[in-house]
Amino acid sequence: MEKSNKLTPEQFEKFRALVKERLGIHLSAAKKEMVQSKVSRLMRENNIVCFDEYFNVVQCDKGKVWSSFVDHITIHKTNFFREDNHFNFIREKIGDIIANNPGISDTRQIKVWSSACSTGDEAYTLAMVLKEYIPPEIDIKILATDVSSLVIQEAQNAEYVLDSEDAINPYFLSKYFKKIGNIYKIPDEIKNLVTFRTFNLMNPFPFKNRFDIIFCRNVMIYFDNPTQEELIKKFYHILTPGGLLFIGHSESLTQKQYKFKYVQPTIYTRSE
Ligand SMILES: C[S@@+](CC[C@H](N)C(=O)[O-])C[C@H]1O[C@@H](n2cnc3c(N)ncnc32)[C@H](O)[C@@H]1O
Repeated sequence: MEKSNKLTPEQFEKFRALVKERLGIHLSAAKKEMVQSKVSRLMRENNIVCFDEYFNVVQCDKGKVWSSFVDHITIHKTNFFREDNHFNFIREKIGDIIANNPGISDTRQIKVWSSACSTGDEAYTLAMVLKEYIPPEIDIKILATDVSSLVIQEAQNAEYVLDSEDAINPYFLSKYFKKIGNIYKIPDEIKNLVTFRTFNLMNPFPFKNRFDIIFCRNVMIYFDNPTQEELIKKFYHILTPGGLLFIGHSESLTQKQYKFKYVQPTIYTRSE
C-alpha cells in the first residue's frame, strides 16, 4: 500500500464518519490537519505506517488502540470553578434546590452527575461546593463520567498542577487542596464523594436512579443539532422533577429545550 504522511480527503472522511458515529463528535473540515497529526502520532506508537491500515485497526479494535484514539481525538480542556456562576448559583440557591426537589430531603441524598467530566476538576469543584453549602445531614453522591479512559485515570489520581484559569478562592484552596511541592492533591473527604467511570454519552443511559443535578458542559458544542436533541431528551428522562441541568456558557438549549424549563442562561429545570 502506498505510504503518505498526508491524509487524503477520502481518508479524513472515513475518520470523520467513525468519530461521528461512535462519539457523536462532528469534525469540521478545518480539523483535518489536527486529525492527521494526532493519527500520525498514534500510528508511530502502534508501528503502523499507513492511514488505511490504522483506520481498519481502530475501527475493529475494542481495546487499547480504540481507547487511545478516543483519548487523543477528544478535547479535555477544563478547570476548577470553570464558569463559576454555576457554582455561585448552587451556593445562593441551595435552599430552593432542596425545596423544589423533595426527594433530596426524603432520601437525605443529593445525586449529581458530571457527565463529561474530563480530568475531574468539575466534579471535585461540585463536591467542594456541595460539601460547603448543603446541610450536613444530606449525603452527597457524585457520578463523574467521560468517554476517555485516560482522563478518568487522571481524575481518580486526583493530583493537579493548577494554572491561572483555575479560579479557586483562597478559602477553598486552603481547605480542600493539599499542596505538596507544585502538586495540589484532593483530600479523601472530597475524593470519596465522587465515583468516576468511563461512559459514552451516545450510549443508552444505564442508570437505575434519577439525578438531582446534571452538569453537561462544553461537550455538546462538539455535537451536531440532532445529536444534541437526542442527548437532551435522555437527560430530561434521567433528571428528577425539580432537578437542574447545567450546560456550558457557549451552549444553548434554545429551539431544542425539549420539555426543560428555562431558569437562567445555561441553567434549566425539569418541571414535571
Ligand atoms: C472540553 S471537556 C469539558 C470538561 C468539563 N465538562 C468542563 O466544562 O470543564 C469535554 C469532555 O467531553 C468528553 N467527551 C467527548 N465526547 C464524549 C462522549 N460522546 N461521551 C462522553 N464524553 C465525551 C471529552 O473526552 C472531554 O473530556
